[in-house]
Amino acid sequence: MSIPLQFLHHPRRTGAITASSAALARRLTEPLALHSARTVVELGPGTGAVTGAIRARMHPDARLIAVELNPVLAQAVRERFAGPDVDVHTASAADLVDLVDGPVDAVVSGLPWAAMRADERTAALDAVTAVLRPDGAFTTFAYIHAAWSPPARRLAADLRARFAEVHRSPVVWTNTPPAFVHHAVNPKAGRP
Ligand SMILES: C[S@@+](CC[C@H](N)C(=O)[O-])C[C@H]1O[C@@H](n2cnc3c(N)ncnc32)[C@H](O)[C@@H]1O
Repeated sequence: MSIPLQFLHHPRRTGAITASSAALARRLTEPLALHSARTVVELGPGTGAVTGAIRARMHPDARLIAVELNPVLAQAVRERFAGPDVDVHTASAADLVDLVDGPVDAVVSGLPWAAMRADERTAALDAVTAVLRPDGAFTTFAYIHAAWSPPARRLAADLRARFAEVHRSPVVWTNTPPAFVHHAVNPKAGRP
C-alpha cells in the first residue's frame, strides 16, 4: 500500500502521485503551536507522511484526530500510529463536525483541493472553521506549478473569506512536485 498505488486506483480522490516530503511536513507543522495544543486534526493523512511530524510536535497529553476517506489508507495510518493519542476515522473531511467533541486548536490538511469539486471544497473548509477555536490555525499545501490555476485561486479566495489572516510560505523545492503552504489563522465568525 502506497500513495502511488492508491493514485492508480483513485486518481481524483488521492490527488498526488507521491507522499509529501519531510521538508513539506515540517512547513505544514512548524507555524502551528502544536506543543500547547490539546486537540489537533489532520485531514487526508494518506500514508502518514505528515502525521508523524504532527505527532512529534504534539504535547504528550494532546489528541490527534485523523480523517481519511480511503479505507485502505485509513487502516494503514491506524496501524502505523496506533496509540491512545491518535484516532483515525474513515470519513470525509466534510463530516469533521461529527467527529470531534470540542474545540480544535489546529487543523493540518493534505486534501487534494485541486481535484475536489467546489461543493466538496467548501464543505470541508466550512467544517474546518466550524470546529476551530477562535484563535485556532489551519495549514494546507498547494503545488507551485498550479498556483495560478482556477482551482488554486478559488482555494486562496475561500481561505481569505474564512480567516482573518492567510500567510504563504516560501516554496518547498524538496517536495515532488515543489509546493508551498497556506497558513490561515483566526477563523472569521459569520463566515460565508
Ligand atoms: C494528496 S494525498 C495527501 C496525503 C498525505 N497527507 C501527504 O501529504 O502525503 C490526499 C489524501 O486525502 C484523502 N482525501 C481525499 N478527499 C478526502 C476527503 N474528502 N476527506 C478526507 N480525506 C480525503 C485521499 O484519500 C488522500 O489520502
